[in-house]
Amino acid sequence: MPLSQRWTLTRYLIEERRRFPGASGDLNALLLDVSLACKAIARIVAFGQLDDALGSVASAQGGSVNVQGEVQKPLDVLSNDIFIRMNEWSGHLAGMASEEMDAPRQIPEAFSRGKYLLVFDPLDGSSNIDVNVSVGSIFSVLRAPQAVVDSGRDVVEADFFQPGATQIAAGYALYGPTTMLVLSVGNGVAGFTLDPNLGEFMLTHRDIQVPADTHEFAINSSNSRFWEPPVKRYVDECLAGKTGPRSKDFNMRWIASMVAEAHRILMRGGVFLYPRDTKDPAKPGRLRLLYEANPIGFILEQAGGRASTGRQPILGVKPTELHQRIGLVFGSKNEVDRIERYHHEPTTKDRGNPLFAERGLFRD
Ligand code: AHG
Ligand code: MN
Ligand code: MN
Repeated sequence: MPLSQRWTLTRYLIEERRRFPGASGDLNALLLDVSLACKAIARIVAFGQLDDALGSVASAQGGSVNVQGEVQKPLDVLSNDIFIRMNEWSGHLAGMASEEMDAPRQIPEAFSRGKYLLVFDPLDGSSNIDVNVSVGSIFSVLRAPQAVVDSGRDVVEADFFQPGATQIAAGYALYGPTTMLVLSVGNGVAGFTLDPNLGEFMLTHRDIQVPADTHEFAINSSNSRFWEPPVKRYVDECLAGKTGPRSKDFNMRWIASMVAEAHRILMRGGVFLYPRDTKDPAKPGRLRLLYEANPIGFILEQAGGRASTGRQPILGVKPTELHQRIGLVFGSKNEVDRIERYHHEPTTKDRGNPLFAERGLFRD
C-alpha cells in the first residue's frame, strides 16, 4: 500500500473519536503524548550499547532496587522518566502510577490537572535488554474519580483501584525488529508500525483478532514444582501431545518478556500463563495487576481472546494495592476457558474424597 494511503495513528484516533461527537479530544492528545514517549524509548533501545544507558544501576553504582525489590536498570529509570516528562505537562492527567515508582505521581503545580489517570510499566522484560531481546512499554488509561477532577486534589493510591473493565484505553509498544504500537480505545484492537523515516506510527494491523484455538503455550516451567494442580494438569496434557487427552502436539515458547509474548499471541494465537503458585507466599503471582495484567487483558479481550486469573476474568478484579501481583493467564479463548474450567473442577485428589463419589454432594 502506498504510504499516502496509510492512516497515521493521529488519523486513526480522529476517526475513532467521530463515534463520540461530544468528545473533547483530550484522550487523543493524551494517547499521542504516550506514543511520543514510546518513540523516544524506542530510539534509546535501538542505540543499544552505543548509548551508555545500558547495564544495571546496581552494577554501575552499587545498587538500586525498585519498590518491589527488583534491580532497576538505567533504562527502566530512564523510560519511567520519559513517560513522566512527556505526559505531566499536558493538562489531561490527574495523576500517574508506574511499576517503577513507590507512590502515585502528582502533576506538578506548574501544570493544570485533567480527568485521566495514566498507569504504566515503562519497560517490560527489561532483564532482556542486555541480550538484545524484545522489550516494550505497557500503558493503561483510567478515568480519574469525579471527586479528584472536581477538587483538583492530589491523587491517592485508592483512586487507581478500578477494575480493568473500566479502562478507557490500553496498549503497548513493542521494541522488536520493528517498533509497534498496539492500542485499544474500547472498539477493537489496532496495530501501528513505526516508520523510522517519518517517525510516525502507521496503521498496519486493523482489527486484530486472536484465533480461538492454538497449539502453542508459554509458561516458565522452572516453576513447575510450585504450580497448583489445575495448571499442572493443563501443562501435562499439552506435553502428552497426540497420544494424550488433547490428541494434538503442542509447541512451547518462553521469551521472558510478557509484552513480546502478548504480541505473538495477538498475532497468531497461543496461551500465556504466569499463574498463582506457591513459590513465595507473599506474592500471589509474578505479574502486576495494574501495570501488566489489566492493560494486556483489555487488549486481549478486545481482540476476541481472553484474560483470567485462572479462576475469574482479570478485568473483573477490583485492585486493593497499587503494586498488587496476580496470577495471569491470557490468550486464545478456548484455551483460557479450559484452564478456568480446570480451576473450577475438583482435582484428582478431591475425586478420591467421598463428597465427590458417584452419589456425592459435589457431583455434577
Ligand atoms: P519487568 O521487566 O517489567 O519486571 O517484567 C518482567 C516480567 C515479564 O515481562 C516476564 O514475562 C516475566 O517477568 C519473566 O519472568 P521469569 O523471570 O520468571 O521468566
Ligand atoms: Mn513488566
Ligand atoms: Mn518493567
